Amino acid sequence: MHSIIVNGRGPLRGTFSVPGDKSISHRAIMLSSIANGVSKLEGFATGEDCMNTVKAFRSLGVNIDRKDTLTVEGKGLHGLKEPGETIDTGNSGTTMRLLLGILAGQSFRTVITGDESLRQRPMRRVTQPLREMGAMISGRDGADFAPLTVKGTNLHPIRHVSPIPSAQVKSAVLLAGLYADGETSVTEPLLSRDHTERMLRFFGAELNTDGTTVRIKGGQELKGRNFSIPGDISAASFFILGACMIPDSKITITNVGVNPTRTRMIDVLRSSGAKITLSGARDEALEPAADITVEWSKLDPFKIGPADMPGLLDEIPALAVAAAFSGGESVIRGASELRVKETDRIKALAADLKNLGADVREQEDGLLIQGVETLKGSEVDSFGDHRIAMAMTIAGMISREETTILNTECINTSFPEFIDTLRILAPDSEIRITD
Ligand code: S3P
Repeated sequence: MHSIIVNGRGPLRGTFSVPGDKSISHRAIMLSSIANGVSKLEGFATGEDCMNTVKAFRSLGVNIDRKDTLTVEGKGLHGLKEPGETIDTGNSGTTMRLLLGILAGQSFRTVITGDESLRQRPMRRVTQPLREMGAMISGRDGADFAPLTVKGTNLHPIRHVSPIPSAQVKSAVLLAGLYADGETSVTEPLLSRDHTERMLRFFGAELNTDGTTVRIKGGQELKGRNFSIPGDISAASFFILGACMIPDSKITITNVGVNPTRTRMIDVLRSSGAKITLSGARDEALEPAADITVEWSKLDPFKIGPADMPGLLDEIPALAVAAAFSGGESVIRGASELRVKETDRIKALAADLKNLGADVREQEDGLLIQGVETLKGSEVDSFGDHRIAMAMTIAGMISREETTILNTECINTSFPEFIDTLRILAPDSEIRITD
């Protein structure tokens, strides 16, 4: 089991980039695979999660060549073939949930599983609407948990009203909707990230959006496209946190995706006094991108609630660490979805931040965090969750006392270059990885 030991000294300074956006990369492989023709993708995410999507589509018979550019030879909507093995999506919930939507429309049977964490994450939110569309899906506890067996069929359209804002649920139903004989719609209580809608349109499909309802007609052919994937704002969030909190820091992260459904963390930090500027905005056909510059400044506490959640869901670990160092009480509510992420992130953040000496009260749907001037060094655990591991590494850098983060291999699921990048930005700090 790897651990990271950090002794933070000095600021974060430099200009750099982060891996390609994970959400966009998953969708890029999926849509390219069921499109007609070849797609070439630049900037594909480097972590294990997206490689699990690549592997899954290779087992479904798609030729995917990985060099600097990723080349996908699309098979068309009905060209996938029955895999001769169980598809293992590792730690990646996005791979499993979105893939279920595509598998629901195939005429063959597939068995899909994941690692220990993923096998405990709820799947009914996806399998139930897909079953309503006609797919036969079985698995533990009424198809709530992987391993799952999916036998697709000719799907019927549904009008799905999701009780939670979830891009994974929305995307799975829309992808299945491509295989349905009529118009499928998904309505969510608040708009979740819209990468699937943008990419489906980019590949030539027509979608109709009205508020938080999106409709898609089945049978639409997708056409292979070439495009470049911008950097992942969720990976960037840890460096944004570090640069905001470590005196004299100044960093620029180039070519980061700034889709408005993903940038709420920047708004929250700015309204707390953070110096964050966006420049060189590129409003590309598929997804907007910009360079993000962050300078150190003193932050006020903040309050975030249910309406903020879809736009900063994956950034809560970084925001919770910011709150722990900002004088006064910060409030994070409406975040109960965090309990079913790669780990229970509310519990993990409360335990780790308390260990570092912060005053944290755990709520059913969030955290109340009383900021302190400085945290003490200690030993904390990632609980196998990449975002907790990276947030705690930065907490250690800010605290400037030796901090050990246990169980950190999970960082490879999304950001294998994280530690190397941190070392370049903070050359005076000591950052060691031990076995
Ligand atoms: C994702 C959607 C979000 C997010 C996850 C990636 C996606 O999950 O937390 O990391 O790519 O669609 P939910 O759909 O469960 O909210």
